[in-house]
Amino acid sequence: MSNQAIIDQLNEILKHEWTGVAQYSQASFIVEGVWREVYASKFLDDAKESFGHAQLVGDKIASLGGVPLATRNEIRQSRELAEVLQFSMEFEAKAVEMYSKAIDLAGENRPLVIFLEDILKEEQEGVDEYAKLLRSTGNGTEAANPARQTG
Ligand SMILES: [Fe+2]
Repeated sequence: MSNQAIIDQLNEILKHEWTGVAQYSQASFIVEGVWREVYASKFLDDAKESFGHAQLVGDKIASLGGVPLATRNEIRQSRELAEVLQFSMEFEAKAVEMYSKAIDLAGENRPLVIFLEDILKEEQEGVDEYAKLLRSTGNGTEAANPARQTG
């Protein structure tokens, strides 16, 4: 394992987690209508999860002798709830991809692999959860509404 390669990948992950803090917080701030009752706190919880992951990864980067990045990527936002859920699922899926790549780079470093796997498990839970939410909420198309298909 090259220390620099793993540090670079962890920094890409850290930027993604900071993006999550901002993107989910923003989603929580702006969600309106009756679904606000449910989703304002759901999105805020996801922002907190991203912050928790950022803490873990930032600490790990410093432990490995790297400098944690304090920047983030552009956030995606929308007033359409179905679109926000879609952005959220894609965000979690990208996290799964990034942590998986970091695990490949960690190679024989067993403690680091386990550290990353613990987070990866939560990212996959995020994908599963948003996939289910998108299924039950529908995505605004008729195909997503079984009642209409059979009606
Ligand atoms: Fe995360």
